Amino acid sequence: MTDNKTATKLTIDNSGIDPQTNFSANPDFSTIMASRIARRRFLKGSVGAAVAAIIGSSLAGCSSSDNESAPAPVVPPVANAPLLGFAAVAAGRADTIMVPEGYSANVLLPWGTPLTGSYPAYLADGSNSGSDQEQQVGMHHDGMHFFPIDARSNGESSSEGLLVFNHEYIDNNLIHPNGIDSFPRLADQVRKEIAGHGVSVAHIQQQADGSWALVNNSPFNRRITGATPMELAGPVRGSAKVITKYSPDGSRTRGTLNNCGNGFTPWGTYLTCEENWAGYFVNTDAEQPREHQRYGVSASNGRYAWETATPAADQYQRFNASTVGASASDDYRNEPNTFGWIVEIDPFNPDSVPQKRTALGRFGHEGIIFGKLEEGKPLVLYSGDDSRFEYIYKFVSSAPYYQNTAGGHLLNDGVLYVARFNDDGSGEWLPLDINHADFQAKASAAGVQFADQADVLLNTRLAADISGATKMDRPEWGAVHPDTGEVYFTLTNNTRRTAEQLDAANPRANNSTGHIIRWMERDTQEATAFDWDIFLLAGDVGTETPGTDLVLDADNHLASPDGLWFDKNGLLWIQTDMSGSQQGEGPYGNNQMLVADPVTRQMKRFLVGPTDAEVTGISATPDMKTLFVNIQHPGDRSSPDAFTSNWPDGGSSRPRSATVVVTKNDGGVIGS
Ligand code: FEO
Ligand code: CA
Ligand code: CA
Repeated sequence: MTDNKTATKLTIDNSGIDPQTNFSANPDFSTIMASRIARRRFLKGSVGAAVAAIIGSSLAGCSSSDNESAPAPVVPPVANAPLLGFAAVAAGRADTIMVPEGYSANVLLPWGTPLTGSYPAYLADGSNSGSDQEQQVGMHHDGMHFFPIDARSNGESSSEGLLVFNHEYIDNNLIHPNGIDSFPRLADQVRKEIAGHGVSVAHIQQQADGSWALVNNSPFNRRITGATPMELAGPVRGSAKVITKYSPDGSRTRGTLNNCGNGFTPWGTYLTCEENWAGYFVNTDAEQPREHQRYGVSASNGRYAWETATPAADQYQRFNASTVGASASDDYRNEPNTFGWIVEIDPFNPDSVPQKRTALGRFGHEGIIFGKLEEGKPLVLYSGDDSRFEYIYKFVSSAPYYQNTAGGHLLNDGVLYVARFNDDGSGEWLPLDINHADFQAKASAAGVQFADQADVLLNTRLAADISGATKMDRPEWGAVHPDTGEVYFTLTNNTRRTAEQLDAANPRANNSTGHIIRWMERDTQEATAFDWDIFLLAGDVGTETPGTDLVLDADNHLASPDGLWFDKNGLLWIQTDMSGSQQGEGPYGNNQMLVADPVTRQMKRFLVGPTDAEVTGISATPDMKTLFVNIQHPGDRSSPDAFTSNWPDGGSSRPRSATVVVTKNDGGVIGS
């Protein structure tokens, strides 16, 4: 251990709040002045919903500025009616799962469930070792996907499959018997915390009585953690900025961290997304390089001070990326550069090495969602950067998609774009491509230099800053309508947006309750122009979404929308991530899940989670008769000796994140 590289003070930020790191002088087209100009312009023409959202008008429709009838997002009626036939669940604060009458919810695979290897039992006092945790389900479940067991042969099993799910972070008050109680950190505690992160692959099967259970001896069961060897793929592989002691040729790294939302590919692999990874690293140098500073690498200590683990070892020291005081043997300056990516995992091959797909950009990836699949056309993917005033991105593959030959190689080569939402309801995708003249001109004008495309991707946020992208209210999950290709994104909240920073796409100052934006690409999915409107302004009972008939009521008022998913029937599922105080004191009760018909905007609350938990992560069997939902961080505001939730085990037990299996008692389709 090199003492002069070690942080001297431990401050643990367990707030879950994403840091603001965008203080760029990104041309702010959305100043009040610009908005006023835009408003005048559009009030002369037809008024789009976007503008209406600013001015509070009830004039309807999303339209362009030239007074033509606009290509407003249109979603055809759902064929499988009747849906939304259930009675809405009331908001509440019970320490349990509430689902509509006629539905059941059962717990599956809570934190600590033995999954692999020697099957070490879960110990209720938190005393499992680091080695145990490496073979048990991780902590703080998040994004998730159910792969039918026969998916590789285009099968659609609804009774057996691989459930793959993220573990976003660990609760330092709950993971050990007495929380984090020593500094410098004890190596085995750090080992356990690193193993509590990552991804679980669980082979599950429906039983004769309809319940679901882990297939205990399945070779598919696997833990991927913050220490699992991975490869870098795409343009950044081999770059000088990712050369480390661990990987002198810049091709490999260890682990994935802060895996929040997810995606899945049409070729049957899982995508996990690295969100607030930066805070796990520390760099105490007087001046951090831009690829650290712009992402919020800590200047004092790593989030859980893993870098201080004693006895010291390379796999823990690597979290200290400082160069001052470092010798050749503990120079970890490039370790943070191997994080911030989308990671592809093949759940059907337990020996596969996860691939970090660098062409998709480096930022606080919330989730990733594919556009509609079109044979012979490029793949299109969307991903949001969840921090205050960050951006929404789109990737268009260079090679076309063909079902029979599709694979991860398609994600290694393409153009990354960032979104600009104009106040008139139009939008543009701005290329972040060093070979594109427009991008070169913007970089030159901003006095910013990039060595190559790898450098652009390593500094995706900076590239977006200089391109003139729109700073959003914390982009979380996206969802693409299965028939129309219309794209929806949650913007969870941004209480730091001031009245001077409003624009039509982010129309509320001190936006504590968030909203949902949607857009339709013009003509083709790979187009660089789109039309957008606001689907929903979240808030208390009585909140209106201008330009629509939607007025929130007791059946659907909500705050801080986060998880978002379209089921195959075209219903939009919305999960909330309110903070502890918003849950504990606001009018919304515990975090919840709602479902909306995007055509009629009818919306009902379907599920309410236990105390101090987040509802996040959703997937279903192909027959839509089993729904999987994740409950994250129940008892979020616990101390090591006082739990604010005892879910799911009850009594005075330690709270545990878990998956919940929702079924309809009559065997019907979920949502009907
Ligand atoms: Fe991990 Fe953006 O929620
Ligand atoms: Ca989230
Ligand atoms: Ca969130």
